[in-house]
Amino acid sequence: MTQVFAHRGYSAVFSENTMTAFLEAEKTGCDGIELDVQLTKDGEVVVIHDEKVDRTTSGTGWVKDFTFKEVRNLNANKSGMKKEPIPSLIEVFEWMKTNKLICNIELKNTIIPYEGMEEKVIEMIRKYGLSNRIIISSFNHYSIVYSYRHAPEIETAPLYSEGLYMPWVYAQSIRAAGIHPKHLAATDEIIRQAMENGIAVRPYTVNKDNDMHRLFNMNCTAFITDDPLKALRIRKQYEKRP
Ligand code: G3P
Ligand code: CA
Repeated sequence: MTQVFAHRGYSAVFSENTMTAFLEAEKTGCDGIELDVQLTKDGEVVVIHDEKVDRTTSGTGWVKDFTFKEVRNLNANKSGMKKEPIPSLIEVFEWMKTNKLICNIELKNTIIPYEGMEEKVIEMIRKYGLSNRIIISSFNHYSIVYSYRHAPEIETAPLYSEGLYMPWVYAQSIRAAGIHPKHLAATDEIIRQAMENGIAVRPYTVNKDNDMHRLFNMNCTAFITDDPLKALRIRKQYEKRP
């Protein structure tokens, strides 16, 4: 059965990449969450999508120019009633002790090539014993290969958005166990061939009913959505099938 991953948590309803968005995703009964990481000035791995804090928090400026203490003072729940900090990856891992969710960590290192980001994330994954519940993805495929070389026990998956030719062959060549294409780049044929070749396919960001139906119909490995509740409701129809 196709797994459902909550994109930046349950971000259709709650502020993205906040602990509330992750806790609420868990409540929907989804299989996993997806989150984005950046590094602070003092090297803390924090969960935020953009390189700058402007769009999603009360502050302005680059994440890399804030210390962890400073960044924690910002409000990442701009649209909500209660103030919420940007989570650290450690905070997410502490919460993961209480559940069985899978976590797809997207390394946001295409614009800023954060030095040591892969090592920090891998060290933390190992410390928490989460190697078999984490998928490391990135649009920076050098970082994907680097991560694999440092931690072959942790699954990796390149992110991409265009018509890559035979992406399952590419994934195999960089020892990635999966691919995370933009859903428009994941044709039925690509999904079928990749899966037949042992490569997991988890398209993003799938929010429309008909796109969800297509992927459930194909028994695609998983997909990443802002609305896990809707996805799980739709999946119910397929669970009943003989
Ligand atoms: O991991 C899938 C998706 O999150 C990649 O794009 O911009 O939402 O991080 P973006
Ligand atoms: Ca992401």
